[in-house]
Order: sequence, then structure tokens, then C-alpha cells
Amino acid sequence: MAKVSLLIHDLEAAVSPKGHGPLRGGSLGELNIHSPASVAISGDRIVAVGHPKEVMDGIPCGAEYESLDGRGKVALPGLVDCHAHPAFLGDRAGDFELRASGARYEEIHTSGGGIRSTVAATRAGTEAELTAAVEKHLGWMFSHGTTSAEAKSGYGLDLASELKSLRAIRNAGASSPVDVHPTFLGAHTVPPEFESAAEYAEFVIQEVLPEAATLARAADVFLERGSFEAPESRRYLKACRGYGLTLRIHGDQFSERGAISLAIELGACSIDHLENTSDEGARILARSDVAAVLLPACALFLDLPLPPARLLADEGAIVALATDFNPGSSFCESLPLVMNLACTRLKLSPAEALTACTANAAHVLGLNGVGRLAPGYRADVLVLDAPDWRYLAYHLGGDRFAARIKSGKLSGPRSRQT
Ligand code: NIG
Ligand code: FE
Repeated sequence: MAKVSLLIHDLEAAVSPKGHGPLRGGSLGELNIHSPASVAISGDRIVAVGHPKEVMDGIPCGAEYESLDGRGKVALPGLVDCHAHPAFLGDRAGDFELRASGARYEEIHTSGGGIRSTVAATRAGTEAELTAAVEKHLGWMFSHGTTSAEAKSGYGLDLASELKSLRAIRNAGASSPVDVHPTFLGAHTVPPEFESAAEYAEFVIQEVLPEAATLARAADVFLERGSFEAPESRRYLKACRGYGLTLRIHGDQFSERGAISLAIELGACSIDHLENTSDEGARILARSDVAAVLLPACALFLDLPLPPARLLADEGAIVALATDFNPGSSFCESLPLVMNLACTRLKLSPAEALTACTANAAHVLGLNGVGRLAPGYRADVLVLDAPDWRYLAYHLGGDRFAARIKSGKLSGPRSRQT
């Protein structure tokens, strides 16, 4: 075994999705549960997971390493948030209050508020202010167990502000414990200085995309009435694909308007939301290789119908879960809360929910070697202060981690041992 740098020993259990790559169908909820267990880490990689005696037998006598007492605790893979919008300034507390008195999200959007008010606040700030905001949001995510996250732009919607957002994401990622994956959401909505979606989409493709593509790994569009219809979305996504970006679509959030067929036609990596997807749409999506990213905190926050999660899972879709963290439709950075909603509202099992925000979410972000507790995987490990791994979803709210380990580095209690 490679030289061990950190040993988490005598855990109640170490729990991970089985296999490799994304899991679907009957495999979605298949876990490896080692109990009792130790986890050995060398640098930023996991080198052994198994019975404490077997793991110890693989470590040479007299070796020096940092050690963490796992008694009464459980180790799990760090969580992967594959859909999040942390690059914004200002807030939407006013919208939240309006909605509490009966206004609907789409009405606020149509009357010029909603996303457009966050665009105004984000444009008005400096790159340093936006970097600080992204850092703060990533810190919140890390405290809830997220060790890798997507970060979308999309609150700039002009050349300078989109590039400012993508640079703020890059800068914040460099100093954050969370591994950050930037997505260009140039087609989030039509900003007020443009007359039509088609005219704005053309501007984005010609003026913003060439530079944005140097800072992003993926591209995304909000395909919805009041934002972009399928023809503009197709043009934008094809242009993004031409720059080598992976494709994502916000689709079927309020209405079905061709998002699933477009995603399949273009070989998109995921379609996200799906609150208004019909059973027929769910079956078509489930048979494809386009992942279904479900965002139950957004459905809760906006009081939307729930996505057809059980049907998608049963028909064999690559199901992932994410927070959709943003100021307007899901001011929620907690994947454990999302897992709770997945179990209580979407009727996924705790095991399916775990795979959906670890191994399957890593697949959506194009990450190999992330999202499992297994030798060779990156040492992103959560130590849950509970005797049963299901507490991760079962315990609604609260600080539940004894330690968070990112790329082999421990944040939390530690002790030196030989
Ligand atoms: O995923 N639907 C579009 N975009 C975000 C909401 C953004 C906002 O309201 O600020 C979402 O829900
Ligand atoms: Fe979103």
C-alpha cells in the first residue's frame, strides 16, 4: 500500500455507491457497506477501505500518519452539487415576501423582477465583491458536506459581467476547499436592453461565447416561456458545443417545450428541473444517456409540482440530485436537506439519493475518480457523527459532520499517531 498519510479507523461503517461510472435502473441504489471499517488515505487518494484489521495489516509497522478515531461514526463520499448558481450579488428577500403573499415566481419574472433584479445587482458589483460572495457561498456548501460543485454564471448577461462572473468563480475556486466546475449560463434570460430572445442569443453567440468558453467547462440555457424557446436554445447550444463545452439544459420547469428532445438531439449531458415533465417525456429521457438532474429544494421553494423521480428511476434514467442554490428559486446550499426531500417527497430510497448526489452527480460534472469511497478515488470523505449512514438524509437540518476531508486534508478534530 502507498505511504498512508491519514487513517480513519474503527468506523461503524464506510458506505459508498458500488461500481464505476453512473448507476441506473436496479443499480441506482446499490451500495458497498463495509462494517466495521477503516479508510486509509495517501496524499489526495483513497488507498484502502475495508475491515479495520485488513486495512491495518496493509500498513507497515512503525509508519507515521495522522489518525482520526471513527468509533460510533460513519464515512461517506464527499457530496457533489452538480447544479448551483453561487455567482450573484444582492438577494431576493423581497421576492420571497411577495411570494409569501401569493405572487407567483413567473409573474415576478414577467414584471421585470426576479432574475433581472439579480442581474442588476451583479452587474453593479466589482470582481472582488463577486469573488467574495462566491467564496462565502462555497463555504456554506462545504459546511453541508459538498466537496465538489458546479458554479454557473448567468447573472451578468453582458460581455464584461459574464466574464467577471466566470473569473470570480475561478478565483473563489482557487481559495475554496470545494472543487469548482464553471458553467457558462449566458442564456439565462433576456436582459432588458434586448428586444427579443433571438436577438440576445445572437449577441451571446457572437460576442460573449468566444471568451466565456476559455473560462468554462459547460454551457447551459433556460429553455422556458419568457426566456428561450427551443430554436434559440438549439442555436446557442450548438455554438457552445463548437467550442468544446459540455451541454446542460434547464428544462420543463414550468412547461414542456421540447427540452428533452433537444437534449437528446444534441447529446447534452443533462436536463435539469423536470417539474412539469409528462410520463411520456420521463420514459423517453430514461432510455437516453442524458442525465435527469432533480432539484427538489427548488420545487419546495417555489411550490412547484414534483418531478417524476420514481418513474425516471424505475425506467432506468441516470438520476442525479442537486441544490440549484440561487437567490430566487432555491436559496438552499444543503445537499443533506435535498436528500431528505428526495426520500420524503420524491420517494427515492436513501441509497438512491446517496448515489444521486455522489457518483451520478460526479458523472454530470464529467469527474472521474470522484464520488465513491474506493481505492484510487479522490480522498473527499465525510465523517458523519452518527451510527448509521442513513442519518445523512434522515436528520433534517443540524450540523452532522465530525470531520470533512477534502483531497486528503482534514478539517475537524485530529490526533497524531504512530
Ligand atoms: O434554476 N430557472 C432558472 N434559473 C434558476 C433560477 C434563477 C433565479 O431565480 O435567480 C433556477 O431555478
Ligand atoms: Fe438552476
